[in-house]
Amino acid sequence: MSHFSYQNGVLHAENVALSAIAEEFGTPAYVYSKATLLDNFNGYAKACAGRDALVCYAMKANSNLAVLDLLARQGAGFDIVSGGELLRVIAAGGDPRKVIFSGVGKTVEEMRLALDKGVLCFNVESIPELHRLNEVAGQMGKRAPVSLRVNPNVDAKTHPYIATGLKANKFGVAYDDALDTYRAAASLPHLEVVGIDCHIGSQLLDDAPLLEALDKLIALIDTLAGEGIVLHHLDMGGGIGINYSGEDAPVQVGDYLARVFERIDAWRAEKYEGKPIKVIFEPGRSIVGNAGVLLMSVEYLKPGEEKNFCVVDAAMNDMMRPTLYEAWMAVQPVTPREGKALTYDLVGPVCESGDWLAHGRELAVQPGDLLAMMTAGAYGFTMASNYNTRGRPAEVIVDGDQVHLVRRREQPQELFALESLVK
Ligand code: LLP
Repeated sequence: MSHFSYQNGVLHAENVALSAIAEEFGTPAYVYSKATLLDNFNGYAKACAGRDALVCYAMKANSNLAVLDLLARQGAGFDIVSGGELLRVIAAGGDPRKVIFSGVGKTVEEMRLALDKGVLCFNVESIPELHRLNEVAGQMGKRAPVSLRVNPNVDAKTHPYIATGLKANKFGVAYDDALDTYRAAASLPHLEVVGIDCHIGSQLLDDAPLLEALDKLIALIDTLAGEGIVLHHLDMGGGIGINYSGEDAPVQVGDYLARVFERIDAWRAEKYEGKPIKVIFEPGRSIVGNAGVLLMSVEYLKPGEEKNFCVVDAAMNDMMRPTLYEAWMAVQPVTPREGKALTYDLVGPVCESGDWLAHGRELAVQPGDLLAMMTAGAYGFTMASNYNTRGRPAEVIVDGDQVHLVRRREQPQELFALESLVK
């Protein structure tokens, strides 16, 4: 459940009016609801209760330290894709022993850092990566815990840019090559083969492709066990979609997890002789997506012959999803006003025709009005850039009637502080 609602005609985050936040911290600003964040995490935690399971939040969705800290305190692990993300986890008080290291391009330095901090597992995506990790671990006198990201070749039925489990994608080891790759991993002295994982795509509204992938992983685990390669965990990746449009009907997290556990229980009872297997999930969007909005102000209204433009102070560099994926994101007035609505394209100040946030929206607005882009908590701030030397927005977390500034707005001087002139 999301804790953004209209109270006395003003859109609130929990008990705080977004207009009060705009006044105090300016716009554009990302505003997150702590209660929504924790409700979402607890949806996973509850469904995992009493199970050997770990929820590793995919922090690429939103890696603000305060968000990580709140989740770490609930017992979350983290799915990371860089050394930088690992340092964030540690800075936020997260436990590296609950960290899964994903990604196709891990560098030697990143492997060293992760081995030094003692991460739970490396999700390895290729044979050359296995060899590199074996070498780095050997130099450090360690054995690296390894899982292979297997590409189960199922169609996740989502946007091509965020589908990852097809043969044509760069991710993972092809299903048909998985056995040989496991044999190679098991033969390397500084690796310890511990698990299997997959991640087939993001914003999935149906869990059927995920369950299909699960069946394929289970079959592989059985084959591997027959060869004496016994795995201790099965990582389902992330991917559960959320409701962006009011019409999307995503699968409920509790239902999906129940179906996963049901299959795993049936399989273990029948075939796997009850051998222990930890189940890992790597949700990102479904934890933070509806816990955040992007708050912005209307600068100008620009009526045109073909289109009306509503120019706001947020831009594509603050929220990439619409222009990058043609993603539809809801936009709501903070204080709805009476009067005639016009159809607007919502655009920002960046010098690109691609700088748009929404197309063809019915809005009754005036310059100075506040708008909120809803469901913007995932892949919002983390994908923001400084294009056009624009400082990234402030980030704020609301907890009941308390407001915490968790990242202040970047100042222009900070954006070129690392640069120097040719001597
Ligand atoms: N695990 C792995 C290995 C991943 O690559 C991802 C996301 C996740 C977990 C989390 O997936 P989620 O539960 O959030 O669907 N920027 C895009 C989404 C890219 C997703 C990349 N991988 C967007 O804004 O739609």
